[in-house]
Amino acid sequence: MTNRMLVAPSLLSADFGNLERDVRAICEADCDLIHVDVMDGHFVPNLTIGPVVVEPISRIATRPLDIHLMVQNNTFFVELFAPLKPKYISFHIEEEKHPHRLISKIREYGISPAIALNPHSRIEDIEYLLPELDMVLLMSVNPGFGGQKFISNVYDKATRLKKIIREKKLSTLIEVDGGVSNKNINELLNSGVDIAVSGSYIFKSQNIKQAIDSLKIEKN
Ligand code: DX5
Ligand code: ZN
Repeated sequence: MTNRMLVAPSLLSADFGNLERDVRAICEADCDLIHVDVMDGHFVPNLTIGPVVVEPISRIATRPLDIHLMVQNNTFFVELFAPLKPKYISFHIEEEKHPHRLISKIREYGISPAIALNPHSRIEDIEYLLPELDMVLLMSVNPGFGGQKFISNVYDKATRLKKIIREKKLSTLIEVDGGVSNKNINELLNSGVDIAVSGSYIFKSQNIKQAIDSLKIEKN
């Protein structure tokens, strides 16, 4: 396990007219994961990409994919994306009646299961599932769009979640997604966050590598 913050640029803020260029740029800039936001226009009021677009991305990418489902009917989407062999698939707890069953299904595909929590959702709701999860994604914006304002209740949530993970002697990672930049990365690291997802901060910067490097801060 690396001793620094891992960085997952979110393709939502890439230039979709130059997607190959942008995927190559973040890989050459040594990102750790490639965060792919899948939105269905139902769970969130926005619509993004499916396997038709993510498959060619997976061929170009030299870093593992981190698929963030923001959809209704999670099982359908898991089956759709599993053949692309992402490292992670995360689904939202707010939209799943049978999370334990879906976690098992994701793991059967050889993919690391993760659960995402909206800003209002309680970590208690996933506490009993933690031993089955490789990662928890804490939203620090309301899902649906890039470039939104960071919601700072995630610091407390991450701190409490990390405490539970340590008490249970688990290795579940904490990922934070939404409004992440060099302004809040130190406090996120101090709150126990392992992986920073960042879209607009990285892709709107003058220098993608410098922006990624600025988030790769060391743990004490
Ligand atoms: C929002 C997405 C995020 C988004 C983050 O629903 O899950 O991954 O791309 O973008 P920024 O970093 O711009 O908030
Ligand atoms: Zn996301």
